[in-house]
Amino acid sequence: MPDLIPVITLDGPGGVGKGTISALLAEKLDWHYLDSGALYRLTALACVEKDIVLDAEHDVAAIAENLAVKFLPQGGILLEDNDVEALIRTETAGNNASIVAALPMVREALFKRQKAFLQMPGLIADGRDMGTTIFPDALLKVFLTASADERAKRRYKQLIEKGNSVKIADLVNEIRERDERDMNRSASPLKAAQDAHIIDTSELSINEVFEKVMQLYKNLNQ
Ligand code: C5P
Repeated sequence: MPDLIPVITLDGPGGVGKGTISALLAEKLDWHYLDSGALYRLTALACVEKDIVLDAEHDVAAIAENLAVKFLPQGGILLEDNDVEALIRTETAGNNASIVAALPMVREALFKRQKAFLQMPGLIADGRDMGTTIFPDALLKVFLTASADERAKRRYKQLIEKGNSVKIADLVNEIRERDERDMNRSASPLKAAQDAHIIDTSELSINEVFEKVMQLYKNLNQ
């Protein structure tokens, strides 16, 4: 039985375009948007700020449980009333997120918080385990893929445009390392749900991916 409130899940590895496509879908359909990766990034950031070791499972789970976070409707994320959007988007923050995300108690602590995003008229859920664990009864499940090289190229372009200096070889290594950790952990590993539509985005533009997902959604309503 699908959830009464419609959910579209977009899962896949880092740098595949999930965030961009999810935001476009949420805007087009006028649905709510869950950026689940941000919750893991925020948990890791709060731990760093409080000097908590990232694999101290009980302590990190307590931080996740009590995160004082606000997602602003106009964009931007507040952690204890400070705007932390830029701080959580760095490569280091992403790597730290994947360390805390491997801890089962942390995933458990964030479960209810993610479920609370399920509100009318619908939800676009972006992450690694949206279709497998958090919203297994979603109306439509999409799993985006692209090679590590292609994802590194996209990330490189974004970072260079923002004025950062990075080496593409370092980005490829970081992406591979993060994939490895996300796919091989025992709690909710990164993998496509059995009923997910897999889209390889390596050769596609953002707009082409967006159109493909919209078509899958429209097909459900025909
Ligand atoms: O998607 P994003 O890059 O923001 O995610 C950061 C990290 O958080 C991922 O590498 C992954 O380890 C973790 N994550 C997760 N489950 C999710 C979303 C993110 O484990 N649903």
